[in-house]
Amino acid sequence: MSAAESMPAPAAPARTAPTAPGGPHVWRGIIEEYRDRMPVDADTPIVTLREGGTPLIHSEYLSELVGCQVHLKFDGANPTGSFKDRGMTMAISKAKEAGAQAVICASTGNTSAAAAAYAAKAGMTAGVIVPKGKIALGKLAQALVHDARVIQIDGNFDQALTICRQLAEQYPVELVNSVNPYRIDGQRTGAWEIVDQLGRAPDLHVMPVGNAGNITAYWRGYREYAADGLTGNLPVMRGYQAAGAAPIVLGHPVEKPQTIATAIRIGNPASWDQAAAAAEESGGSIRSVTDRQILAAFRLIARHGVFAEMASASSVAGLLALHEDGELEPDQVVVCVLTGHGLKDPEWAIAGAAEPVTIPADLHEAAAALDLA
Ligand code: F0G
Repeated sequence: MSAAESMPAPAAPARTAPTAPGGPHVWRGIIEEYRDRMPVDADTPIVTLREGGTPLIHSEYLSELVGCQVHLKFDGANPTGSFKDRGMTMAISKAKEAGAQAVICASTGNTSAAAAAYAAKAGMTAGVIVPKGKIALGKLAQALVHDARVIQIDGNFDQALTICRQLAEQYPVELVNSVNPYRIDGQRTGAWEIVDQLGRAPDLHVMPVGNAGNITAYWRGYREYAADGLTGNLPVMRGYQAAGAAPIVLGHPVEKPQTIATAIRIGNPASWDQAAAAAEESGGSIRSVTDRQILAAFRLIARHGVFAEMASASSVAGLLALHEDGELEPDQVVVCVLTGHGLKDPEWAIAGAAEPVTIPADLHEAAAALDLA
């Protein structure tokens, strides 16, 4: 008998593949992982790229520096490289359920990347409106590669959002900015993951603030887990805007926001009131950090192994400012959210780095160049 004859016949292929295959160790995406807390039912078509389940990275370096237990929630590890995927899987799933064929959003880059990817997965069209010349190249590339209709305006994010709101009112397109409540529903999962990963809520939660949807979502997420007895404590929420784009700190809209952290270059956040409420209810604050502080934090975390984007580094810049001002209590459990991946904008990384060394293809030259010989 030949080996081939002894082999069992291959099983007939399953007629329909399950939508979310995988055993207990396979992450199924935030909607399946938290289905009982999500506004979906058995008929909702789940549009997912298996977002969420991102690492909570303990930072020995920052912990020692500030005298707390510091963890970095690295949401740059999402499928499109930012936390926007958490909200977008919900918004696009609900848009598909409602029969929408097209979605629209304004963006500083990450929302448009996520909208383009999830719309492509769903077989829908995405239109994105972005401030010309003010979004990172990687983010623009993402919208283009997923075939979004990319419209650039000679204007800023706030103006783009106004246009998108009007388009959604007057034309058959679904708005998927964070004013869409399903976006916030999805983004709550960041807080749940942190509690699930730590076994409790942190004492202090530090994050960037731009259009202010994410801080709104995190605070809701923590409160819901506490209400259901899944955490006994709630964190103090501290949000950080860039000093040149800090309307909540100043108490009035900023007409011409300016910062190197283009993702949070926003002068009139849509979720302003909710963000202010999150800070107040938690005993926290919304403050600002300068571009110089943001850049220093960006380089610091990169030197210790984590490549996050510039806007994300404002959370670590905020933590360092709290430390310098003597506002941290020893041994507090701290989470800084790193909202997006540094690869979105490699120019910044290269700008501050040493030039690569060029040598002939030779062992001895390589050893010498590496100071080994
Ligand atoms: N970090 C990154 C990397 C972002 O892209 C954003 C927002 C934020 C932080 C701030 O989050 O708006 O919920 O307060 N980016 C939006 C966009 C505005 O269009 O991609 P927020």
